[in-house]
Amino acid sequence: MAAHNSLAASLYFSLLLFSVITETVKVDACQPSSQLPEKTWCVANPSTKEAELQNNIEFVCSRLDCSLIQIGGLCFVPETNISHASVAMNLYYQFMGRNSWNCHFGGSGLIVATDPSYDACKYGCF
Ligand SMILES: *[C@@H]1O[C@H](CO)[C@@H](O)[C@H](O)[C@H]1NC(C)=O
Repeated sequence: MAAHNSLAASLYFSLLLFSVITETVKVDACQPSSQLPEKTWCVANPSTKEAELQNNIEFVCSRLDCSLIQIGGLCFVPETNISHASVAMNLYYQFMGRNSWNCHFGGSGLIVATDPSYDACKYGCF
């Protein structure tokens, strides 16, 4: 019985530890890290290959909360790599402080001065 309890306890502890680590990694992309006045956004260059768009999505979404482009998110539609990548790349750009190099993405990012928001999908966290 004692062995059973300690196994349960260590399992519980592992789960607890795992969720603490997960929480720390998934930071809130809408916490502004910069007070820069200029409003600029980052989108994917339309000539970017699908695989690279996918890589950009994975790069950003392993660091920031990408619920906007997940099922039920306000930017899930249209369900294309170019649209999802643009939303994700912009989240990263805003979160990192809107430095030009935060929208580089191996040359696949474009900084734009026009808000790319559409319908209920709002870009940026101003
Ligand atoms: C996104 O890119 C991946 C990898 O190239 C591809 O397999 C997938 O079909 C693309 N998704 C859409 C919605 O085009």
